[in-house]
Amino acid sequence: MKKYFKVDDWKVIEEGFDKNYNRVTESIMSLANGHMGLRGNFAEQYSGDSLQGTYIAGVYYPDKTIVGWWKNGYPEYFAKIANATNFIGIDLKIDDTIIDLAQVEFSSFKRVLNMKEAYLERSFIVKVNDDQLEINEKRFLNQEKKETAAVKYSIKALEGNHSVQLTPYLDGNVKNEDANYGDFFWKGEEQLNNKQQSLLSMKTKKSHFKVSTAMEWKINKEYNRLEKINEENYIADKITLKLNKGEKINLEKFIAVCTSRDYEKNLVNTKAVEKAAEAVSLGFDKLFAEHKNAWAKIWQESDIKIEGDLEAQQGIRFNIFHLNQTYTGHDPRLNIGPKGFTGEKYGGLTYWDTEAYCLPFYLATHSQKVAKNLLIYRHNHLQKAIENADKLGLKGALYPMVTINGEECHNEWEITFEEIHRNGAIAHAIKDYIDYTGDQEYIRDYGFEVLAEISRFWADRAHYNPRKDKYMIIGVTGPNEYENNINNNWYTNKIAAWTLKYTLKNRKYLKENYPEAYNDLIDKLQLSEKDYQLWQDMIEKMYYPYLEEYDIYAQQDGYLDKEQKLVSDLNEEDIPLHKNWSWDKILRSPYIKQADVLQGIYYFEDEFDQDSMERHFDFYEPRTVHESSLSPCIYSIIAAEIGRKEKAYQLYLRTARLDLDNYNYDTDDGLHITSMAGTWMSIVEGFAGFEVKNSQAQFRPFLPEAWNSYNFKIMFKERRIKIEVNQEKVVFELEKGKKLEIKVYDKEYKLKPEQKLIIEN
Ligand code: BGC
Repeated sequence: MKKYFKVDDWKVIEEGFDKNYNRVTESIMSLANGHMGLRGNFAEQYSGDSLQGTYIAGVYYPDKTIVGWWKNGYPEYFAKIANATNFIGIDLKIDDTIIDLAQVEFSSFKRVLNMKEAYLERSFIVKVNDDQLEINEKRFLNQEKKETAAVKYSIKALEGNHSVQLTPYLDGNVKNEDANYGDFFWKGEEQLNNKQQSLLSMKTKKSHFKVSTAMEWKINKEYNRLEKINEENYIADKITLKLNKGEKINLEKFIAVCTSRDYEKNLVNTKAVEKAAEAVSLGFDKLFAEHKNAWAKIWQESDIKIEGDLEAQQGIRFNIFHLNQTYTGHDPRLNIGPKGFTGEKYGGLTYWDTEAYCLPFYLATHSQKVAKNLLIYRHNHLQKAIENADKLGLKGALYPMVTINGEECHNEWEITFEEIHRNGAIAHAIKDYIDYTGDQEYIRDYGFEVLAEISRFWADRAHYNPRKDKYMIIGVTGPNEYENNINNNWYTNKIAAWTLKYTLKNRKYLKENYPEAYNDLIDKLQLSEKDYQLWQDMIEKMYYPYLEEYDIYAQQDGYLDKEQKLVSDLNEEDIPLHKNWSWDKILRSPYIKQADVLQGIYYFEDEFDQDSMERHFDFYEPRTVHESSLSPCIYSIIAAEIGRKEKAYQLYLRTARLDLDNYNYDTDDGLHITSMAGTWMSIVEGFAGFEVKNSQAQFRPFLPEAWNSYNFKIMFKERRIKIEVNQEKVVFELEKGKKLEIKVYDKEYKLKPEQKLIIEN
């Protein structure tokens, strides 16, 4: 853990430059707008340690799988979001000195991520031939016009007269650091760099995505010379000009990035050039004003304000900021990668994280269609999921562990073939969405097909054990990836049986409410009474491992046969286990990587009374090492539920500043985007006890002792509700929409427009 950044309610500030920490800072200072993103790299050349990263949503390269021992059923490739044309670059030479912060003398360095207005600003004073010059850079990726970005780069001579050479460029010679075989993922297509147009067009190999980047620039001073440079996959404009003492040069660079995902291939170049021209004609300030307004709207709906704890305030805003940068819901073909646009690990692909962790955030802070698009993404991949199950010799649909286009990319048998609980989260997300929005038609139009095919998978994957007269699911990996190939993981069995039940319930609903659509669906899916009977039998006879002596569910068969040690028995040098222990030792240990049984309690809370929840928490929490960033938020929510307020708060702290303070020493790889949604859940579902039950919004708020107050908003059935929790009271305000009934601490209240509902503590 390192406290490196200055604490501020709306900003993340780096003051002074630690070159050894640069990769972490670059991840932290990443900018994105749902269409594209870039790490917080410097605009000018930098020869020190850095991961130059520019990523375009949905543009991937199918990187040939690398494994030691090939197993039938492994995917051919791992899709990686291709590190794309570096469009932010502007090289700088002053007199004869190339400005490279790994080489030159400089002072007063500051890099600031402004989360409120979503821009990155950097300044420093560089010394050239004994004279000082001040450099400033401000950049943003337009949240409104998503294909455009702009950077303003300025140089002020504090001392002396100088010759300055500025070189805005587009560089397509970018490689993914994580390429399996060191391949260059791109092939240069067209490039133009004449007086009117600057364009670099590249195409990914194999997947054939065309990405065209156009640039235009404006400078506030007459230049002496302009040299147009065209090299392989690289174009640049070398501008030479004089800078006298006290003067300031402003170079504004405008970029447009268009892809063949959005336009016909023959139109992509034209679109990019047009959009860059449009950007330059609007100018930096107008474009920025538009971008700032878009962010003001985002914050209006998704901000959480915490009084009395600045670190917590910065932490939660940092999480909300990056979630909103990563996924905007404008395109149902996109999803949320665990690292978003901030690094290459995990390939920028979709995991069960989306449904299990991210969906609640987008449901509560955005319009309904954003969450719906997340669901439709899976509906669009249903056929691929059916093929995926078929590859394993199974019926129905098995959604991939990791995917970008519906095809499985994961290639470790114990996860690819065994971590099948992911199917359950995808099914449960349909329920979450419908309960939350009341959009019952979703089940008819999309949801039922997905549920039915997932149910069909469970029915085939489970088997009947006549000795016990129970159905069992063996050879699985539960959410706890520190054990593989186990039998009867309680969570997996539970979510499988739940899916069957929910599918049958919806079958009945469709039959009664949409008989025509129902008949068409049943025909299409070729479901019969035999299927329903089997599903019903499985629901009734699913096997759930139980630990009688503790009166709790067992994580899996045989869990108690392991040597029972607790996290408190570990030495500091052991943690994190995945870095310090052999994999074999981890697998034999009782230590739990992340919420597993507790993940099930989180989903099926209504089936547990307080005592039972406590017993489960008290057994599993001391055995959990939380070595997945997804873990502490679930434990925090359950701790809140059972009234362990301090514990809930401590667990929350583990997630809230995970990246800002580099808790797991891995922020250099990129940020933990999907766990950020879990942080949001810890406050909204944990501290404020928000949940939707029987279509009603319910709350059980408490205030962590360290805070004076907190407030947040939720979008719920076309309304915007503000909830403020302070030491004396809880205040509800209906900011938008018609009156509604809510439940607070088990009591019903009417929430009306322009009338605050105040509940004294
Ligand atoms: C976790 C998985 C998760 C993945 C991506 C892994 O470490 O164990 O549950 O889906 O990271 O976030």
